[in-house]
Amino acid sequence: MLTTALIVLVAAAPPAKSQALLDKGKQSFMTNCVACHGEKGAGDGPGAIALNPKPRNYAKDPFKQGDKPEDIFKTLQTGVPNTAMVAFGHLSEEERWALVYWVLELKGGPSPAPAAAAPVDAGTKAPEKPAKKK
Ligand code: HEC
Repeated sequence: MLTTALIVLVAAAPPAKSQALLDKGKQSFMTNCVACHGEKGAGDGPGAIALNPKPRNYAKDPFKQGDKPEDIFKTLQTGVPNTAMVAFGHLSEEERWALVYWVLELKGGPSPAPAAAAPVDAGTKAPEKPAKKK
């Protein structure tokens, strides 16, 4: 567990998911990604027709490069070699995290919120109040 926390500390710590970040991610997705991935991430953007391999349907197909926030961040950082998926390392880290969360939003299902990163924020967040018993 401690090792996980340390690894997360060394890698870029994901910012907390927020509506503002999701909005930013969506906006960036509509500019940078929609041509191939399609508005809903179904892999049906107009640019995808000629691609081989084609982008997957985020909601239906398993992610080849991993679907943890850190995996997607890395995909954006490095791109996927020998595919049309180019690197987006020129985007700011914040924008890439925003995209990560938007991709996961399109993916749907249980949100793999960066629970592993929780210890990183432990000092900065007010401790959660224990739920009151009724
Ligand atoms: C020029 C077309 C193109 C653009 C633009 C593009 N992608 Fe991709 N993307 C692809 C292709 C093709 C793949 C599939 C690569 C493969 O088969 O592994 C892919 C794969 C991915 C994956 C990995 C999915 C998996 O299976 O693990 C993620 C995440 C992703 N793209 C996100 C994005 C985001 C976010 C953007 C915008 C910032 C973007 N892509 C822009 C073509 C594109």
